[in-house]
Amino acid sequence: MTQHEKVLILDFGSQYTQLIARRVRELKVYCEIHPYNIGLDKIRAYAPKAIILSGGPANLSGADAPVIDRAALDIGVPVLGICYGMQLMCHLLGGEIGKATRREYGYARMNIDDTSGLFRGMANEQDVWMSHGDRIERPPLDFISVAHTEGSTTAAMRHRTRPLFGIQFHPEVAHTPNGVAMLENFLFTIAGLTGDWTMRSFIDDTVNSVRKRVGKDKVILALSGGVDSSVVALLLHKAIGDQLTCIFVDNGLLRKNEAAGVMAMYAEHFHLNVRMVDASALFLGRLAGVTDPQQKRKIIGPSFVDVFVEEAHKIPGVKFLAQGTLYPDVIESVSFKGPSAVIKTHHNLELGDRLHLGLIEPLRELFKDEARLVGEELGLPRQVVWRHPFPGPGLAIRVLGEVNEARLAVLREADAILIEELIKADWYDRVWQAFCVLLPVKSVGVMGDERTYENVVAIRAVTSRDAMTADWAELPRELLSRVANRIVGEVRGINRVTLDITSKPPGTIEWE
Ligand code: XMP
Repeated sequence: MTQHEKVLILDFGSQYTQLIARRVRELKVYCEIHPYNIGLDKIRAYAPKAIILSGGPANLSGADAPVIDRAALDIGVPVLGICYGMQLMCHLLGGEIGKATRREYGYARMNIDDTSGLFRGMANEQDVWMSHGDRIERPPLDFISVAHTEGSTTAAMRHRTRPLFGIQFHPEVAHTPNGVAMLENFLFTIAGLTGDWTMRSFIDDTVNSVRKRVGKDKVILALSGGVDSSVVALLLHKAIGDQLTCIFVDNGLLRKNEAAGVMAMYAEHFHLNVRMVDASALFLGRLAGVTDPQQKRKIIGPSFVDVFVEEAHKIPGVKFLAQGTLYPDVIESVSFKGPSAVIKTHHNLELGDRLHLGLIEPLRELFKDEARLVGEELGLPRQVVWRHPFPGPGLAIRVLGEVNEARLAVLREADAILIEELIKADWYDRVWQAFCVLLPVKSVGVMGDERTYENVVAIRAVTSRDAMTADWAELPRELLSRVANRIVGEVRGINRVTLDITSKPPGTIEWE
């Protein structure tokens, strides 16, 4: 548990709750999201320096509207209610809420009537982002309206003497240009926070707590070479040096030079204790003849666990398993909304069960972007910190149909060309993911005077924020053409390149 100043965000189910947390942390203030119904005792025990009530989809007039004990507003720390959070504050303290005659959704021009408190230092007119159906008809006793829009006479309110604030709009989204400045006013001027949470301090705290917990014992980690496991590896290495053993499983489904690259980076460059297990024969053996995508996944996940567990048993005296769980996975599992669609971590859960080891999850409090910053701070090279996501089943779901060594080898060469050209053209960082897919069809071509009958490769490149939705990336024509020419010219077995221009939805990013 952090020793820093903490803000508590009570979640009422808004799609923006995580964004609130990110904005607060970007201001170097540590915060956590908890479900609104954790109870007064837990709220007090958490000892927050300020509380933020998130927005949410419910209406207070609804039968099952989520509410909190009003005593939570009386624990003596500043409280900011956002959207539903403001309406709840109003409701708990005896104000009146009604249906807006016109739903406000999107941009609204807001007039500030009182430039103190949240709006200190701001111009009288502000663009803000609204998304609500209910509105405040009458603020509670001793509250005053401090801003209005065309649709809401009370777009913001504050208590006359106590540090209680409510805003109808969303300061956490980019569409409210001065939203961050308002949060700054709340956190620093009103709540008196200092902004004591930095990546540097996170690293120091984590190193200390890991040392304390691990003592002289040994820890193992599944190192994949992706951002999360790499950051965990460096962080733990800094804390406990060679008491950490990383296990890197080559499942035979990796990209060109990937296994060698991981060993060069972590074993040679960073001097980590890495054991590489070449399990490609086992994986490819189990995959032989399998064409169904879900079946492939059902084979690969458990096979990974088998290999890892066997290797772990070879290391005497291991007491802990480290893994790269991130904060969004933690919130998903505790949120009152119930888990939303996440792939991931089922491996990890299984590993923990099978090995009966203590779990060390040093990134549990971090968002992905924060884990990246920690990586940078620890000297992880840019190309790892900003590496595209790569699925656990690897190239097995990019060789469509049957997976075998020959087809994997063809795909590896084509994919390496695509990535090399993307980097050269400065496009790698501009796409979320880009890769080649080997299709299970052959097509006719002509090379020199010869007729060819060979494989087809598709290029998949997408832009996305979080992989939940994605758009196909409009790579420049010259780049695409160079990639296609090189693939057909240099990779034996491919005579045609196609471009996937499907967005998600309705497509998925991967083809299988
Ligand atoms: P889709 O294809 O569902 O992919 O649009 C969304 C994101 O998830 C990755 N992905 C996987 N990652 N195991 C993983 O670890 C899987 O089975 C898997 N399937 C898809 C995909 O690369 C993209 O980033």
